[in-house]
Amino acid sequence: MKTFIFDLDGVLVFTDKFHYQAWKKIADGLGIYFDEKINNRLRGVSRMESLDIILERSTKRYSAGEKEDMAEEKNNYYKEFLKKMTPQDVEPAVRETLAELRRLGHKLAIGSSSKNTKFILQQTKLMDMFDAISDGTNITRSKPDPEVFLKAATFVGDIPENCIVVEDAIAGIEAAKAAGMMAAGIGEAAHYGKTDYRLEHFKEILEIEGI
Ligand code: BG6
Ligand code: MG
Repeated sequence: MKTFIFDLDGVLVFTDKFHYQAWKKIADGLGIYFDEKINNRLRGVSRMESLDIILERSTKRYSAGEKEDMAEEKNNYYKEFLKKMTPQDVEPAVRETLAELRRLGHKLAIGSSSKNTKFILQQTKLMDMFDAISDGTNITRSKPDPEVFLKAATFVGDIPENCIVVEDAIAGIEAAKAAGMMAAGIGEAAHYGKTDYRLEHFKEILEIEGI
């Protein structure tokens, strides 16, 4: 039996588009150029680090307090999207795959940098699928640091060598490998060199050899 550790945004739910739209509002308000390509660099990294990436293009320097306010404003926009989420925002293939993995006896955990993780899992009624949740509220360093995945393994009581991480972010694949885990990549992460299993579709998780 394996432990599967799932990233949340961009893997189980498509909240990555909401992150983009919320940051875009902040960037536009500040007159800073921001596009989907820059947004890809925000995948997997914490809220404050994301803001620092956006502000790289600003000529102005902002105080820590101003940055806190911007991050809070972004999160308020973002939460407006999350409030509208329902169980229908989870693709049937995702729900079916998670149910099948559980039926086979594997342990399932979340490994996400987001502090909104529990709210999203409640909105989409995914909470009961998981044996443990490691998220932005229990880490001090975000991906590519392995902390969030190592904590997930500890929470379910498994060793890193027995864990398979499912990720859409390059930073997440880096974090999984740094944790000594196997990494399955979806989306952009499927094409990354360090990815062990390249997934075209979520259901292909069930075809991973030896599970
Ligand atoms: C990750 C996203 O899952 O969570 C990042 O990929 C985001 O883009 C990070 O910055 C933190 O999210 P939150 O919800 O705590 O602002
Ligand atoms: Mg992600």
